[in-house]
Amino acid sequence: MLTGISACVFDAYGTLLDVRSATGHLAGELGDKADQVGAVWRTRQLEYTWLLSLMGEHRDFWQVTGDALDYALDAAGIQDEGLKHRLMERYLSLDCYPDVAPVLTDLRRAGLRTAILSNGTPGMLAAGVASAGIADDLDAVLSVEEVGIYKPHPSVYQLACDRLGLAREQICFVSSNGWDVAGAAYFGFRTVWLNRLGQTGDRLPGTPKLVMRGLESLPGLVARRNT
Ligand code: 2OP
Repeated sequence: MLTGISACVFDAYGTLLDVRSATGHLAGELGDKADQVGAVWRTRQLEYTWLLSLMGEHRDFWQVTGDALDYALDAAGIQDEGLKHRLMERYLSLDCYPDVAPVLTDLRRAGLRTAILSNGTPGMLAAGVASAGIADDLDAVLSVEEVGIYKPHPSVYQLACDRLGLAREQICFVSSNGWDVAGAAYFGFRTVWLNRLGQTGDRLPGTPKLVMRGLESLPGLVARRNT
């Protein structure tokens, strides 16, 4: 049980929104390359965010997502600008995991604030939240574009403290990305690793307080009061 929590802050991609749904919906066009393209796209997308941050360079997440998709399609031997366009459009309306909306409602009913803190651009996040139908369940949607560097840089996690007016330990941060949970825990958030895909735990500084496979049990495990 995590007590003394004032807000639950969620990662977006992979946590609330199913990143695999973009290639999934276009599997008919991608054929037997669908899984490969989906996996390489996501891996390169994340690697580019880390590498750009280390280089001291910033390109927004829409551009990074497009560059990573170019790489993934190229690596799969696919040259099709129309398909690239359709995959990028799909990224703006990813499937929302079915446990998300009811849990956001329950958390707010319990007096907790809810927010997204994501690498996504404000435009991408607005589209994703609208498509998922969860805009009214969120108190804030925060993008790394406000700080100009990607997770897991501490200034990204600090943005949530600043914008919500909360101390680190008052925030329960939930992510399906193990490296994001590590960064957030190392920063000082109370963290939940939402291990949706049954992955192996990362060996990094910063360990999650809770690990769960779905969000359903979250509202029963976080509370405002200390007693
Ligand atoms: C996000 O920031 C890392 O994809 C992840 O939404």
